[in-house]
Amino acid sequence: MRPSLIIGNWKMHGSLDSVRQLLTAILAQSESMASSTRIGVCPSFVHLPLAREILSGSSVSLGAQNAHAEEQGAYTGEVAAGMLAEMGLDYVLVGHSERRQLFAESDAEVAAKFLAVQKHGMQPVLCLGESLAEREKGISSEVVLGQLNAVIEAAGIEAFARAVIAYEPVWAIGTGKTASPEQAQEIHAAIRQRLAEKDAEIAANTLLLYGGSVKSGNAVELFSQADIDGGLVGGASLAADEFIAICNSAD
Ligand code: 13P
Repeated sequence: MRPSLIIGNWKMHGSLDSVRQLLTAILAQSESMASSTRIGVCPSFVHLPLAREILSGSSVSLGAQNAHAEEQGAYTGEVAAGMLAEMGLDYVLVGHSERRQLFAESDAEVAAKFLAVQKHGMQPVLCLGESLAEREKGISSEVVLGQLNAVIEAAGIEAFARAVIAYEPVWAIGTGKTASPEQAQEIHAAIRQRLAEKDAEIAANTLLLYGGSVKSGNAVELFSQADIDGGLVGGASLAADEFIAICNSAD
């Protein structure tokens, strides 16, 4: 039985004040949660020290939204995985579709980031997803499995024993348009099948999260699918009540 995991991706939102308030509310509400669901949050880089301080000693995990693959060097504006590891982080998102689309991250760069994050003892949350045009062409699975293959080839299947995968169809991100539970399950099953072709045990244990307009109103149906182990939540993770309601839907 795989545990459920819900991660909030706060993207480029928040201030010192709002981060403090949001985390304090999430902590207070998560302590009285009946479910055994694991919870994580990924604030912006600059809010990580504050988040670490507030979350210290709690069961809420902390992650970053990106990392650079190189150890160090002349990469103005970038943050190395080793720097993030020093912050005591659990997770780092890699290959989010906003990084792939807006910052032109290639499959090869995503794979390099995945390796760098693991090298520093953190778990990559590998994000995969097709565009609307690709879905309309009927090639969603090919696209997603192609993105997955690039990382399997670079890191090896064993690396997935220490990684999480998030399926986030680009057309469902921030659009209010969620993949139906059946659409999401179909791709999740294809991802798990691809892992199983390489290693059945790793496939059975890898957590596969769904992301794309998850909210309390659709979470139960999505999370009840056989291969959906939780969610990567954007907008709805910025309100403590709504985020905790989503976390409570994942048992
Ligand atoms: P929304 O939940 O706002 O659609 O964002 C999803 C996402 O991109 C999480 O990484």
